[in-house]
Amino acid sequence: MNIRPIRVDDLPGMQACNLQNLPENYTMKYYLYHAMTWPALSYVAEDHKGRIVGYILAKMDEEGGEDTEPHGHVTSISILRSYRRLGLAKKLMVQSPMATIYRASFVSLHVRKSNRAALGLYRDTLGFTVQDIEKKYYADGEDAYAMRLSLK
Ligand code: ACO
Repeated sequence: MNIRPIRVDDLPGMQACNLQNLPENYTMKYYLYHAMTWPALSYVAEDHKGRIVGYILAKMDEEGGEDTEPHGHVTSISILRSYRRLGLAKKLMVQSPMATIYRASFVSLHVRKSNRAALGLYRDTLGFTVQDIEKKYYADGEDAYAMRLSLK
């Protein structure tokens, strides 16, 4: 299994992977926006034939507001079912050079309260903490944990 930064021709494969794994889906324009604006922040995992089996789609959040410090944000991460529990998501999460290239002081993400696997990855393996609960964040009404990991 190979982990590498995304190329524009990976985007359809990433979108296909996302559609199989998650109910939160995005237009090709949104993938392209990530790839063109922060090309170093998103990664794919590919098998020996070059098929995409997982991805991390990440960006910088530089708008300020209540969070004045520039920070990274994980828009989406997923791994195809038969490639899970091999450490791929962990590897994808630690690749992103948000702190070194963009001086991000922390990385944020949202996750469903019921997503046991992702919570295991974020909280137990990587050390994220819950910053807030965002009520009815998801389209089906489920709450999200807004989580953060300090990069300082
Ligand atoms: N149950 C409990 N803990 C888990 C599980 C699980 N099913 N899966 C992973 N973990 C935790 C464990 O601590 C694991 O370490 P260990 O295997 O040494 O015990 C650690 O996470 C690292 O696991 P990885 O093998 O790196 O995780 P994997 O490659 O299987 O991917 C992921 C985890 C991305 C959550 C995967 O299950 C998946 O694609 N799920 C569907 C999509 C999804 O929920 N994505 C996250 C949505 S939130 C967002 O995108 C910001």
